[in-house]
Amino acid sequence: MLSEPTRVVVTGAAGFIGSHLCERLLADGHEVVGIDSFSDYYARERKDENLRRARAHQAFTLEMADLVDADLRRIVDGATVVFHLAGQTGVRPSWGGHFDRYVHDNIVATQRLLESLRGTDIQKLVFASSESVYGDAEMFPTKESALPRPVSPYGMTKLAAEHLAFVYMRSFGIPATALRYFTVFGPRQRPDMAFCRFMQALVDNQEIEIFGDGEQTREFTYVSDAVDGTVKAASADVVGQIINLGGGSRVTVNRVLDTLEDISRIKVRRRHLAATPGDLRHTGASINLARERLGWEPRVSLREGLTRQWEWFQEARDSLPRATSSTDQRPGL
Ligand SMILES: NC(=O)c1ccc[n+]([C@@H]2O[C@H](COP(=O)([O-])OP(=O)(O)OC[C@H]3O[C@@H](n4cnc5c(N)ncnc54)[C@H](O)[C@@H]3O)[C@@H](O)[C@H]2O)c1
Repeated sequence: MLSEPTRVVVTGAAGFIGSHLCERLLADGHEVVGIDSFSDYYARERKDENLRRARAHQAFTLEMADLVDADLRRIVDGATVVFHLAGQTGVRPSWGGHFDRYVHDNIVATQRLLESLRGTDIQKLVFASSESVYGDAEMFPTKESALPRPVSPYGMTKLAAEHLAFVYMRSFGIPATALRYFTVFGPRQRPDMAFCRFMQALVDNQEIEIFGDGEQTREFTYVSDAVDGTVKAASADVVGQIINLGGGSRVTVNRVLDTLEDISRIKVRRRHLAATPGDLRHTGASINLARERLGWEPRVSLREGLTRQWEWFQEARDSLPRATSSTDQRPGL
């Protein structure tokens, strides 16, 4: 499907992962239509910067619009593949009054997109789901067949969106695939995500705040690996499948900090805060299905990826706004 140049749509194009995906698709010779509402979850200038390279490409068009009320029929017209990455991210802010936004951006937006795909010739819808749908899994590495039991409202909305995609697949034949990304990192990582916060604290000579004892484990996935799996899912015969994309190993947050200390040569000052509801103790992906069905393998190690993110962070930090929205300071993994 993506073996020859074609027209594709990327929702959430101005985001961390979406902007990398656009660049990869453009480099592969595709015509890319990006949609993004430039939501204020974090500073808009960061999203402009994320998209700078893609926008310089003549095969790229940007639709600045909210999926909920955009003229999606026109936008998806003639597209072969839709990559649906738009969404409201962040686990901790999904409690309380912000929940409406999660429903709007993760559930209603997905439903509108699916409606627009009814009766089109779309050949694949690739949906960016999340490890958060598993909740506190009983088995590690966690297989896709594990019963999803989210422990945060964010995870619940991602699971609902997955189900919606498959509801439209069964009822209207929309060829959907859901990818469950495990914590993605690398250049342009969202400012609320742990590695970005750690790096900011390091250069500010502030204490690094760790939720819990730091012995929680995470599966970290480098952004180019997540993007590569996403592109492969568009062409592979995986309609109706849910597939984990994880970096290949689990590490503790303490170990990440040791590595960061080593890379940056700055002593990390750690302050432990209480874990908050919705935080997962451990995440770990079984990636056998991705290996078998997508022919995918994560290539970038934690150390290598963290080094690249640190280099990017040092270059970008003076030009990027730190926090301009009320939600910007709410940390999430
Ligand atoms: N980053 C991770 O570690 C991770 C892990 C698991 C899943 N995911 C999923 O991957 C996707 C991308 O994550 P990210 O980290 O790049 O997040 P991000 O916040 O950087 O990007 C999401 C983009 O979607 C846009 N958006 C939100 N609601 C929209 C709407 N209604 N209409 C149009 N655009 C809208 C935002 O403006 C933003 O630019 C999300 O769906 C997220 O749930 C991310």
